[in-house]
Amino acid sequence: MESIKILAIESSCDETAAAVVENGRHVLSNIISSQVPMHTLYGGVVPELASRAHIEAIHPVVEEALKGAGLTLADIDAVAVTYGPGLVGALLVGVAFGKALAFGLEKPLIGVNHIEGHVSAALLEHPELEPPFLCLIVSGGHTNLAYMRDYGVFEIIGSTRDDAAGEAFDKVARAIGLGYPGGPKIEKAAREGDPEAIHFPRGKVDEAPYDFTFSGMKSAVLNYLNHAEMTGETVRQADVAASFQAAVIDVLVSRAMHAVRERREKQLVLAGGVAANGALREALRKACEAEGVKLYVPSPIFCTDNAAMIGAAGYYRFRKGERAGWDLNAVPYLELT
Ligand code: KG4
Ligand code: ZN
Repeated sequence: MESIKILAIESSCDETAAAVVENGRHVLSNIISSQVPMHTLYGGVVPELASRAHIEAIHPVVEEALKGAGLTLADIDAVAVTYGPGLVGALLVGVAFGKALAFGLEKPLIGVNHIEGHVSAALLEHPELEPPFLCLIVSGGHTNLAYMRDYGVFEIIGSTRDDAAGEAFDKVARAIGLGYPGGPKIEKAAREGDPEAIHFPRGKVDEAPYDFTFSGMKSAVLNYLNHAEMTGETVRQADVAASFQAAVIDVLVSRAMHAVRERREKQLVLAGGVAANGALREALRKACEAEGVKLYVPSPIFCTDNAAMIGAAGYYRFRKGERAGWDLNAVPYLELT
């Protein structure tokens, strides 16, 4: 069998990452330099600081990815890089680095959509998984139900009308004093809390059964906190975290299972940073088991931002003969198509 080794680069938000992936499925190395400690000081991602940190980290991270794979630049067949969606300054660091590398090496350059990368993470650990399949994408910036019709071919059937699921986690974490990064902190606090202590609304969008809305739920949490403050009631942080997390999971699982049932799907992929959430993974696993649906969830390290997923997506674009030009630019609001 041929061996195509892709060097992949990801810098769309707050992780500088590089990986080497063979034939789109086999991870030879996966290096992630996280900026979390720096952004924690400010309670969220500061775009200008993110760009600077990417510039400092990108060269060593790429070198480490090559070293980890036991390869040199000469062994690489192509360079894949995330060019959107994401923070423009952050994306530009990876795009400029990837372009320079590919140009200098005279090797093909492939531009990859970050969200397509998240979905492709499921390919890394499941050699049997092939499109078409339905996917539930839950990240900091996106919440979608989508079909991956073929490699690199998507059809979105549902989207959030307001906040993304991860964004809701981050905002609620800030409101209850847990700070950044919200998702993992809520998950941890929720383990000590009662998910039925407070009922937060599970918002629905009329006439759009696959769409999501999280703003009502977020407002309900804020109202609950304000009310408790005014009446002098003590707020149990763990109960709020557990009740909020249960509401988000309820919405995500019920929407995904509705789509699975209506469309008679037999396989479902869970993708994006929120897919690292253990309670969501477990709830969806149970629901899929009950429906006889095969669920594919990447290991947590491949759910949150990483470059191995970009290498997986990049490989299939490479195979189709897609090549980016030297004018490849960052596209902060790049759509999944
Ligand atoms: O996919 P990702 O790493 O970056 C984007 O493409 O946005 O997703 C980041 C989001 C953040 O909102 C973060 O709070 C959320 O994923 N997240 C989690 C967990 N880990 C990360 N949400 C819930 N539970 C987690 N364990
Ligand atoms: Zn992401």
